[in-house]
Amino acid sequence: MPAFISSAPGKIILFGEHAVVYGKPAIAAPVTQVTARAIVQPDPRGAPGSMHIQAPAVGLDAFLADLPGEHPLATAVNGVLSTLGVSRPLACSLRITSTIPVASGLGSGAAVSVALIRALSAFLGRPLSDEQVSALAFEVEKLHHGTPSGIDNTVITYARPVYFVRGQPIEVLRVAQPFTIVIGDTGISSPTAIAVGDVRRLWQQTPAYYEALFNAAGQIAQQARQAIEAGHPETLGPLMDSNHALLQQMGVSSPELDHLVIVARQAGALGAKLSGAGRGGNMIVLIQPANATSVSEALSNAGAVRTITTQIIGR
Ligand code: MEV
Repeated sequence: MPAFISSAPGKIILFGEHAVVYGKPAIAAPVTQVTARAIVQPDPRGAPGSMHIQAPAVGLDAFLADLPGEHPLATAVNGVLSTLGVSRPLACSLRITSTIPVASGLGSGAAVSVALIRALSAFLGRPLSDEQVSALAFEVEKLHHGTPSGIDNTVITYARPVYFVRGQPIEVLRVAQPFTIVIGDTGISSPTAIAVGDVRRLWQQTPAYYEALFNAAGQIAQQARQAIEAGHPETLGPLMDSNHALLQQMGVSSPELDHLVIVARQAGALGAKLSGAGRGGNMIVLIQPANATSVSEALSNAGAVRTITTQIIGR
C-alpha cells in the first residue's frame, strides 16, 4: 500500500484580523512558499487500530492512544475517524513536517490540521470534501484559541484568496490584477490565543471603543475587496497603513512590528501592516515587484529573521 501525502500552505491576513472574530469581514491569502506536510503509511508491524505519530519539529513521537484527547493532533485524527465512522483503522504511521514557523501568524496550526486530515482520510480510502476538511480543522483551531473566526482553516483548505465573514459561506476573491507582498518575520513567537484573549478582555472593558475599531477595520476590508476585484491593487497600500493603525489601537502591535512597518515604508513600500494575531510574528508589505529585493534587505537589516516574497493571484 502506498504512502498518502498531503501538504497545505501557510497564510497571511491581508485585512481585518481580530475584527473578523467579531463578525467583520476580512481578507486572507495562501502563502505557498511555506507548507505543512502529512504522510500516512501502513505499519505492517503495528497492532490493528494503532497509530504511531511523529512530528519531529515539536519533539513529538507517540502513539495516538497515549496522547491526551484534547491534543491538537489527536483531535484532528479522531475527527477524521468519527466523521468516517472508522473505529479501528489499519495500523499506520503518521509523520508531520512543516516549514511554516510556529506561532508567527502564518497559520501553522491550521495547515498541519488540513494536511493531516486530507492525508488520513485518503489513507482510509475516503478523501473528505474541502468543506469537511475545513470544518474538522476548525474544531482543532478551537483548541489553539477558544474563539477562532475560522478564517485560517478556510483560506488554507481552499488555498485561494478569500473574503471571509465568520459563519458565512466562503467567498473566493477574484484578483483582477496580481500583486506582490513581502512578509517580514519579527522572530518573536506570539501564540494567537493570548492576543485574541487580550482583545476579548479589552473589548469587554470598553466595548464602544473596540467596536468602533472593528467597524473601521471591516470597512477597510470591504474597500480592499473592491480594489482587488477592480484591478487596482496599488490603492491597497494606504488601506494597509490604516488597518495597521487600527491594530495598534487595539493593542496588538509591538515595537518590533512597528519598527519593521516603518522601515518598510521608508524603503519604498506602498503600504505595510502587521498580519495575523500580532504582538510578534509577521508583518506584510505591499510593494512594486521591482522593489522586492531592496525592501526584503531593508527588513532583514532592521532585524527581520526571514522574509518571503509572494504573489497574490486569483483564479
Ligand atoms: C489569526 O490568523 C486571525 C485572528 O483574527 C484570529 C481569528 O480570526 O481566529 C487574530
